[in-house]
Amino acid sequence: MDYAATGQEALSRIAGACDLETLEGLRVEFLGKQGSISGLLKTLGKLSPEERKEEGPKIHGLRESVSEALAARKDALESAALEARLAAETIDLSLPAPEAPRGSVHPISQVMDELAEIFADMGFAVATGPEIEDDWHNFTALNMPETHPARAMHDTFYFPDKDDEGRDMLLRTHTSPVQIRAMIAKGAPIRIIAPGRVYRSDSDATHTPMFHQVEGLVIDKGIHLGHLKWTLETFLKAYFERDDIVLRLRPSYFPFTEPSVEVDVGYSQENGRRVVGGSGDAPGHAWMEVLGSGMVNRRVIAAAGLDPDEWQGFAFGTGVDRLAMLKYGMDDLRAFFDGDVRWLSHYGFSALDVPTLAGGVGTPA
Ligand code: DAH
Repeated sequence: MDYAATGQEALSRIAGACDLETLEGLRVEFLGKQGSISGLLKTLGKLSPEERKEEGPKIHGLRESVSEALAARKDALESAALEARLAAETIDLSLPAPEAPRGSVHPISQVMDELAEIFADMGFAVATGPEIEDDWHNFTALNMPETHPARAMHDTFYFPDKDDEGRDMLLRTHTSPVQIRAMIAKGAPIRIIAPGRVYRSDSDATHTPMFHQVEGLVIDKGIHLGHLKWTLETFLKAYFERDDIVLRLRPSYFPFTEPSVEVDVGYSQENGRRVVGGSGDAPGHAWMEVLGSGMVNRRVIAAAGLDPDEWQGFAFGTGVDRLAMLKYGMDDLRAFFDGDVRWLSHYGFSALDVPTLAGGVGTPA
């Protein structure tokens, strides 16, 4: 047998293998269990001792050189594969950074977060209620019986069908029904704010059929108007981030509070914008109504299942959209709900700008 020729052919095929798979195929072909060189080794057993002396070293030499060639070729192919991979995976550090994420936090969401942050610091929890309400929670329990004239002022959207208990169903016209739900669910003492959507059949530059309110409610023992005034003043100072906020409480009427007060703040006009601060009686200043409030009517406390001789409290309510417009300077309420990306990127907030009392509750985007 011409081992030299067999070896030559094996080595040249190994040198020509251009990937690891082909090379493995050759290894099996030559050195595998059924491989050709393995076959030659097996013939040694049948030879006479003299022949074996002659043939043995040649066959072993052949096997040696083939397995060395296989190992060398494997090394070469592996390092070529690594080189190729490294070349393909290079990162061009001079490329521009990926584009910043799009999308922004709507000013209303931002203001609601600011409100939650400010009131949490005063021990208020955030409560919610359904937007599809029944007329007992929205009106009756708030001391507005069926014949009450205040019901007409609310431009209510009613549903055609009543609920299982025979109550008229409607889209809540204010967040005040959450007062009732919170008192029934949690009892007293209680301190909550309830921000959310409300609906009234009304539409112009300052009214949209859906808008946002925030309600506040404190029920405890020995609560009086002084607590109400301090709370609202502390809230407005934190919200507008100014110490010179001056409040004026004016007697008013709401069925669910007694006595009722409307709260004005002093402001001045700067560059065509209302800027809150200072007394409304100061030169160049005027008063603007910002909140409705009062001591919770005994009938409301009783309707929610609490004893009004034991528990008293105050409540307030205001428009979130209007608070946002006053602080951030928008002049048309309708744009809040148009979903115009240009408006949103101008007035929206970064999702990373979480309002905090320490960091500022309203850092503009
Ligand atoms: N619910 C009233 C409205 O929608 C606002 C309001 C006034 C809420 C006085 C109150 C309050 O809690 O005490 O116009």
